[in-house]
Amino acid sequence: MISVLMVCLGNICRSPLAEGILKSKVNSKKFYVDSAGTGAWHVGNPPDFRSIEVASKYGIDITSQEARQFTQEDFDKFDLIYVMDASNYQNLLKLAKNEENRSKVKMILNELYPGKNKEVPDPYYGGDYGFEKVYQMLEEACNLIVKKAV
Ligand code: 4NP
Repeated sequence: MISVLMVCLGNICRSPLAEGILKSKVNSKKFYVDSAGTGAWHVGNPPDFRSIEVASKYGIDITSQEARQFTQEDFDKFDLIYVMDASNYQNLLKLAKNEENRSKVKMILNELYPGKNKEVPDPYYGGDYGFEKVYQMLEEACNLIVKKAV
């Protein structure tokens, strides 16, 4: 079993999409996929309606997801922790207890552009194109995550 955690700030826009996309590509008997936010503002909420819409456009249902906050135990529960941007990365490194914890945290777009530390932009305050663009970035990154894992 490979366990993968997708992390963003609110756990309502980017990481729910990343969770839904990766789940759609893998066997749930071999992969455990979840998502979390570094912040607590939206805990218990469903994904943003714009994330729900763009996922649904591509046949993925993320409506049953519920936002939760990242906790230190997640470092032990997950093999791979993918963050969307540099501030997510810094926030998790502050919570990491040791080098093993730190080594699990990866910028998701480094799968596509190794070492470039490119960010999945926060679409929360932008227009719908932002969500489409985010979807496409995550779709490509998840294809590579699956390819590497199997
Ligand atoms: P996410 O987007 O990190 O992709 O879920 C955000 C959602 C909400 C807020 C920020 C980012 N917020 O400040 O409430």
